[in-house]
Amino acid sequence: MSLFASKGELKSLHHDTVKILGNYLPLSVCDEIIKRFELIEKNANYSYRWSDALESNTRLWCFEKEIKELLPHFEVDRWIRASDAYTGRDTQSWCLMANRIISKENNLGSGGGLHRDSPFSHQIKFIWYLNDVNGFNGAFQYLPGTHTDIWWSRKLFPLGEHRFPNVETPNGMKEVHAKAGTLLICDKKCIHRGKPLQNGIRYILFMIAKV
Ligand SMILES: [Fe+2]
Repeated sequence: MSLFASKGELKSLHHDTVKILGNYLPLSVCDEIIKRFELIEKNANYSYRWSDALESNTRLWCFEKEIKELLPHFEVDRWIRASDAYTGRDTQSWCLMANRIISKENNLGSGGGLHRDSPFSHQIKFIWYLNDVNGFNGAFQYLPGTHTDIWWSRKLFPLGEHRFPNVETPNGMKEVHAKAGTLLICDKKCIHRGKPLQNGIRYILFMIAKV
C-alpha cells in the first residue's frame, strides 16, 4: 500500500501529468550517447539488449555503465529525491535504458500501444529526447488527467488494467514535439504510448526508478 504524497519539485505533475524542460542536455551529450548506442547495439556480447521482432524498437538496458562520465548531466540524485517526494515511496534502485526506434511498416511505436506503466500506483519516468522528435518520428503521446483516475476515463480505461489494444486513439491525446536535449517527466500511471513512426528515427534515454 502506498500513500500518494504529491509533494516536492514534481508536485505539479498531479495537475499537469507531464513536465517538460527544454535545453536540458547539451547537444554534444546527445550526439555522444547516440554514437555509443550505435556501437554497443552491434556488440553481440552486450547482455542487456532487447529488440522487437521487426528490429524496429531496440532497447539497451544498464546504459548508465556506458556513459559514466556523462552522468552528472542527468542530475540523478535530484530527480530521485523529487520522484520519492511525489510518489511517497523510496526508490530502491534506478537504471538508464537507451532506446532507438526506427520507422518500419507495422511498427507499434515505443511501448507497443496505449498503456499505463503502473495501473495502481503513481510512478515517474524521466525521458530525455536525444534527437528532435515531431509528429512523424515517435512523439510521446498521453491522455492528460488519466493518472488521477478522474471519472470520465474509467469507462474506456478501467481501473487496474494496463493495456488497451482495442481502444482507438482517444480524443484529447496530447503529443510532445521537442528538440534534442529536452527532458520530459511524466507520471506513467497515465494512459500513454510512443506514437507509431511514419518516417525517421527516434533516440531516447529513459531513467527508471524502482521502488
Ligand atoms: Fe510506458
